Amino acid sequence: MRIVSGIQPTGNLHLGNYLGAIRNWVAMQDEWTARGATCLYFLADLHAISMPHDPAGLGANTREMVAALVSCGIDPDRSILFNQAQVPAHAELQWLLNGTARMGWLNRMTQWKDKAGKNREGASVALFTYPVLQAADVLLYQATHVPVGEDQKQHLELARDIAQKFNNDFASEDAPVFTLPDPIIPPEAARIMSLRDGSAKMSKSDPSDMSRINLVDDADTIMQKVKKAKTDPEPLPSEAEGLEGRPEARNLVGIYATMAGTDVAGVLAQFGGQGFGQFKPALGDLLVSKLAPMAARYRELREDRAALDAILARGAEKARALAVPTLDAAYAALGLVR
Ligand code: TYM
Repeated sequence: MRIVSGIQPTGNLHLGNYLGAIRNWVAMQDEWTARGATCLYFLADLHAISMPHDPAGLGANTREMVAALVSCGIDPDRSILFNQAQVPAHAELQWLLNGTARMGWLNRMTQWKDKAGKNREGASVALFTYPVLQAADVLLYQATHVPVGEDQKQHLELARDIAQKFNNDFASEDAPVFTLPDPIIPPEAARIMSLRDGSAKMSKSDPSDMSRINLVDDADTIMQKVKKAKTDPEPLPSEAEGLEGRPEARNLVGIYATMAGTDVAGVLAQFGGQGFGQFKPALGDLLVSKLAPMAARYRELREDRAALDAILARGAEKARALAVPTLDAAYAALGLVR
């Protein structure tokens, strides 16, 4: 079993990242490394340059994201934690896969359409080919499982299509070059929504900080954001069906369920019939109690730049070694003389 996933080092880790992906990274590390599986988690710094960015901030954000991941429970002794820029095989394999990926496939990517908007001519080539790099990220390590939020599902399907076509075109059936990876998406937290708009996902790029809860938010800020979260005037239903057509209520219940380690039915059994005046303080308290210890660890870790750099250097060394066989096989399959 090979578990691989990445996160862009742009700004703070928010609750959507944590519940949609990072919690599963930690759970899979805790459950599977003891049984011999390998977990590789990386900072997608090469992806971060596909949009306008501040070079001075990228290094700081990369180190801060390492501190955030470690404070959430990623253990650099059990997982391989690194940044793409220190493992050139990611960019190399992307180029090799560019020969297999089709323009039509990339044109259909919703993230490309959303991020490029009406200005496709002005978007970077990197933004367009971004999903090919993402395919390289996982195929390079023969990933079997990729824990992500729902918004990355389409990119993962593309990675499978690329792997399949490459195997068909350049490998024999009994010796495929790439493994087809499966996405692992948490059912209750697949898509954590903005606190201000139940139809938009919680995101670092939302201009309103009130729309998201960040790992670094203090207790007062968290309580305030939950109190101000958009809701409707109805009390919570007793059954999950009663959340139909109530996206904001569904979102808050989903957050509570994932944070408390239960499911929507369990939360509604407890809070059904109660109004948000009662539910929101309970949700705020739960978030504060779960996030505060991680935030405290984060504030401590982020100060030790040398330790964070050492984690990345050690992770990159292991990742570079693991990448060799697949990269070699891909070059050879394509007939490239090295
Ligand atoms: P990124 O940095 O946008 O997000 C990191 C992870 O957080 C999940 N996520 C969410 N889950 C639920 N609700 C939300 N509101 C929410 N917002 C973010 C994302 O699904 C993701 O799992 N392209 C990727 C990074 C990447 C990658 C990869 C991921 C690069 N290469 C290879 C997996 C495998 C990205 O920008 O994620």
